[in-house]
Amino acid sequence: MGDVGEKTTISRAAGGEDRDGRCMCSEFIGPTEAAALAAARWMGQGDGPAADSAAGEAMRAALERLDLRATVVIGEAEAAADNPLKRGTVVGDGRRVCDLALDPLEGTDLLARGQAGAMSVLAAGEPGGIMAMPDMYMQKIVVGPRAAGVIDIDRSATVNLQAIAKAYGRRVGEITAIILDRPRHEDLIAEIRRAGARIKLIADGDITAGIAAAVSGTGDHVYIGIGGAAEGVIAAAALRCLGGEMRAKLWPLTRRQVEEARAYGIDDIEKTLTTEDLVKGDLVFAATGVTEGEFLKRVNYFRDGARTQTLIMCTRCRWVRFVDTIHLFTDERRAIRL
Ligand code: FBP
Repeated sequence: MGDVGEKTTISRAAGGEDRDGRCMCSEFIGPTEAAALAAARWMGQGDGPAADSAAGEAMRAALERLDLRATVVIGEAEAAADNPLKRGTVVGDGRRVCDLALDPLEGTDLLARGQAGAMSVLAAGEPGGIMAMPDMYMQKIVVGPRAAGVIDIDRSATVNLQAIAKAYGRRVGEITAIILDRPRHEDLIAEIRRAGARIKLIADGDITAGIAAAVSGTGDHVYIGIGGAAEGVIAAAALRCLGGEMRAKLWPLTRRQVEEARAYGIDDIEKTLTTEDLVKGDLVFAATGVTEGEFLKRVNYFRDGARTQTLIMCTRCRWVRFVDTIHLFTDERRAIRL
């Protein structure tokens, strides 16, 4: 993907490269850190919309500071008229061109209640590399590299759990499935209980759930169920970096949503979408913890500063990096606690 109008300089780097060909992926830490720092001030305040817009504005301002021309392919719904990062927005007029999938505050309700699991997240891809999605639900099944290739969204949860257990060399009872705790999942939960797998019901946050299923050491092996389509695309970017796999299908609730999907070029609503259908080419994924999470610490403020933790991954650089940052809000230096 070399030529994009006159801005020809990015080759295969998702967020572009500098004049010496070095990948600029690390720059994407800034926007998720900024959004997390802004959102975390709203922890437990019971005002999700205020936290959402603080996070969105901070992320946009941080993106504008980068030398980018970035198109928001996955962002807030068009309906959110005053949202600074709604779908279709072009941020910046810089030299490096990329597409973005972002959620400045994933887990808005969690943050509003001061509960674990809220984070700020962003994925950057080559132009055309991120699949645009209408604002609707998506049925998903997500596993890590050990079970990649064995899942099939057209088969029952029981059959999938048996296949995943086999891939791990375990019994089904030694596999843990993460599911969003929603009435729509009643039958699915009952089936998984009958199959004998352990279940972790979560209140919100299925991007985190997908990552937890894809990395080893969390004790989780599969994320299954119906969540947001936008979150599905962002999670797919993380999975491409981690070698995990997603199988997904759009889950429209009305005829109008079927038409909306068509308007996005998805004619076959029954089509199984693979990780690579959702995100192609080189990718950068960044997530900063807002409240305490499965794999990220929360934002902590101290006098004149704050500390954040960010996960940054890049398919081109082939790293999974945790970045711990102390942000100093004044020029005055006091003792920093390690
Ligand atoms: P937000 O980013 O809007 O806070 O989404 C939280 C979330 O739990 C997602 O992780 C998930 O995909 C979606 O909501 C599920 O939607 P619903 O709450 O309608 O079941």
